[in-house]
Amino acid sequence: MSVNLQNLVRENIKRLTPYSSARKEFTGVAEIFLDANENSFGSPLSENFHRYPDPLQSEIKEKVANWNNIEANEIFVGNGSDEAIDLLFRIFCEPKKDNILICPPTYGMYKVSADINNIEIKKASLTEDFELNPDAIKNVIDENTKLLFICSPNNPTGNSLDKNAILGLAENFEGIIVIDEAYIHFSEKKSFVSEINNYKNIVVLQTFSKAWGLAGLRVGLAFANAEIIELFNKVKPPYNVSEIAQNAVLKAFENKPKVEKMIADIISERENLIENLAKLDFVTKIYPTDANFVLAKTTDANAIYQFLVDEKIIVRNRTNVEMCQGCLRFTIGTPSENKELINSLRKFTTEAQRKQSL
Ligand SMILES: Cc1ncc(COP(=O)(O)O)c(C=O)c1O
Repeated sequence: MSVNLQNLVRENIKRLTPYSSARKEFTGVAEIFLDANENSFGSPLSENFHRYPDPLQSEIKEKVANWNNIEANEIFVGNGSDEAIDLLFRIFCEPKKDNILICPPTYGMYKVSADINNIEIKKASLTEDFELNPDAIKNVIDENTKLLFICSPNNPTGNSLDKNAILGLAENFEGIIVIDEAYIHFSEKKSFVSEINNYKNIVVLQTFSKAWGLAGLRVGLAFANAEIIELFNKVKPPYNVSEIAQNAVLKAFENKPKVEKMIADIISERENLIENLAKLDFVTKIYPTDANFVLAKTTDANAIYQFLVDEKIIVRNRTNVEMCQGCLRFTIGTPSENKELINSLRKFTTEAQRKQSL
């Protein structure tokens, strides 16, 4: 199906004259910059932070483009991928008219962003095995459904969703399919980035917050055809990624082997943690995971969660999330953190048995 992107964009965004940042308005070479009301005398720090950062993050885009074998104009760099999520709403969704579709249980920010932007949320839950349910999705979407959020590997379940099911939806859906790949680097599955030229309506999200170990910098990515990226650039705040974050990401690219090593270590620890969790009698199910976390069903999530808090270990209690009753989500820690976690969980077993025998 050929999607007409212009039909999906909000009218006010089509009409929008974007903010023109000071440095965009000249061509040629300049030596003295008195155009942006920066502090010409410098900064109290040794670095050159008195200048605004590159609004379009060209150096990062060049690195990311080479890494993914795509063009720089097919990349948006945001203040975390959460910024890209919010921008998708602002570009495509007309409050009180349009709607979006999510497939629970999934990442909570899709709903929060929809609520902030006053956009109706439609739902087509995953199946019991946490797979996509394309028939349910087709039944729920209507002519005002602008965005379909698919998270793969999915948070909080950890599994990757079926590629053919996703591409089948992209073929038939007249809105934008957002494929959130925040955890893709922990998975052996292929990214959908290579599909952005085959499907005009696919937007892929990735982040530097997970495998890259740079959550504190707040840098995320969106990949899509150049027409969609142009819309992101039109709507985003002019200087959305700080100088310090841009420089740090560039530096991280110089140390990719370290990133690859961390990913391998996390995957190996993931196996270890799964093995140990499986031995606990109050863990009734461990869901397959391609991410840096494990979702486990337990007999009493609230009691275990509180027990771990008392042990000064915080995990994510997902028991109140649709289809996740009894579930706790464990981020993979370092070997010693995982050991402490397992030791504490073993204490919970002993404690529970002691209480039972009283
Ligand atoms: C599925 C998913 N997408 C996006 C994000 C947010 O990433 P960022 O730190 O890039 O905003 C998260 C964070 O937990 C996530 O789980």
